[in-house]
Amino acid sequence: MYQEIDLDKIDMNAEPPAEEPARQYYFMAKCRQWVREFERKNGRRPCFFTQTFGCQMNARDSEKLVGILGRIGFLETQDEHADFVLYNTCTVRENANQRVYGHLGYLNTLKKKDPNMLIALCGCMMQEPQVVEKIKKSYGFVDIIFGTHNIFKLAELMWERLVIRKMAVDIWEDTCLIVEDLPAKRKYPFKSGVNIMFGCNNFCSYCIVPYVRGRERSRKPEDIIQEIRHLVASGVVEVMLLGQNVNSYGKNLEEPVTFASLLRQAEAVEGLKRIRFMTSHPKDLSDELIEVMKDSKKICGHLHLPVQSGSSRVLKNMNRRYTKEQYLQLVDKIRAAMPDISLTTDIIVGFPGETEEDFQETLDVVRTVGFDSAFTFLYSKRSNTPAASMEDQVEASVAKDRFDRLLAEVQAISAKVCARDLHKSKEVLVESVDDHMEGYVTGRLSNNILVHFPGDISLVGRIVSVYLEEAKGFYYMGRMENPQ
Ligand code: 5AD
Ligand code: SF4
Repeated sequence: MYQEIDLDKIDMNAEPPAEEPARQYYFMAKCRQWVREFERKNGRRPCFFTQTFGCQMNARDSEKLVGILGRIGFLETQDEHADFVLYNTCTVRENANQRVYGHLGYLNTLKKKDPNMLIALCGCMMQEPQVVEKIKKSYGFVDIIFGTHNIFKLAELMWERLVIRKMAVDIWEDTCLIVEDLPAKRKYPFKSGVNIMFGCNNFCSYCIVPYVRGRERSRKPEDIIQEIRHLVASGVVEVMLLGQNVNSYGKNLEEPVTFASLLRQAEAVEGLKRIRFMTSHPKDLSDELIEVMKDSKKICGHLHLPVQSGSSRVLKNMNRRYTKEQYLQLVDKIRAAMPDISLTTDIIVGFPGETEEDFQETLDVVRTVGFDSAFTFLYSKRSNTPAASMEDQVEASVAKDRFDRLLAEVQAISAKVCARDLHKSKEVLVESVDDHMEGYVTGRLSNNILVHFPGDISLVGRIVSVYLEEAKGFYYMGRMENPQ
């Protein structure tokens, strides 16, 4: 397993193969021919630009899309002045959609100057039928539209567009297909996301994800471990296992496996130094997982555990299937096993029917748990979700006022909590040269907090010991120990 197909060995005069991934390599070879023709005519290779909206899942999807474009022979460029522009969209909140429409207006002006430019849209927003209708009607200059279930088909759709010369639209409602062994171009050489499952079965009442990402499907553990081995062999030291609800990983496989046992297998991969994962649903977090995390040398000391609200009444209406008390008990259990663990969360304010008392319960959870950080969101009405038709939608000004109060609380607490490792030496994975301070690099602690310290580019990708000299709220300033 894990073999990419050599494009030079493909017979392009034959019929396209029916099975995947062979079919996509066939279309990559076809598109590469087009790229060569382009180069001959224009004296340069065509270039592409991609922009990713939304979560880490989308970021990983984009690495696969970039991998395919690279195999076809496109060169990557840093802005929309490109021959091929691809937006990988998000629809979790309405403002993500608005940003995409804004960008499309800009692309329209660019395409008027260069009519040969190709524009493609994919990702979660495209899974909404009314969005696709709107694009067909009002943004007819878009060339290719595809969704979340068939991102592996980019080359085939591009070929279709080049041949038939009209908008190529391919949206699947759902799928049970998982295509392995396609190319991917990693953003960082030393760390990578790894999908372990796709979709979500939880149907939290505010959330559009189950509708646009479909039902839960887990990859087989042997495919995941094989991919991790392959990544490690190419220089990766840290993986982030990705799923909407990793705690229910493996339940629907022919031979069911728990997430905890997948983690054990990942831990055994030689050369891998750090394992992260997200996201965990509190209702499914098992004692076995806590045990595995506690005993692990590689799993990072960080758990992202979205609480969404502190009010049991609101949680019930959100269909979260835990109460405030159960969440707090879970936190106690986790902390009893791993006292230093860093906990982060997601919180929505202004969910329909949320009262000031409900909001006070949320503030109470924030104070009781003392999160390292919290992503706070204003509730956004998503079409066709149960919450969209609930009565008592909270007035925007009230929600905004709660949001501001929550943010102030979260930030004050996080500044205190994050300082817990001050004056200690900790391992840091160096991620980049510092953008703002010359002669400095930036890296992450196991618990995901950033550290800036003097160093140069040669450290990037290495794990080094750093003395944490100064706590600056949500990051540290440090000094490397035993520099060589
Ligand atoms: N409105 C606001 N926030 C939302 N999220 C998901 N759906 C919505 C919505 N309709 C938030 C949740 C989730 C995070 C990824 O996005 O907090 O955990
Ligand atoms: Fe959305 Fe809930 Fe699934 Fe997370 S668990 S993706 S919030 S439905």
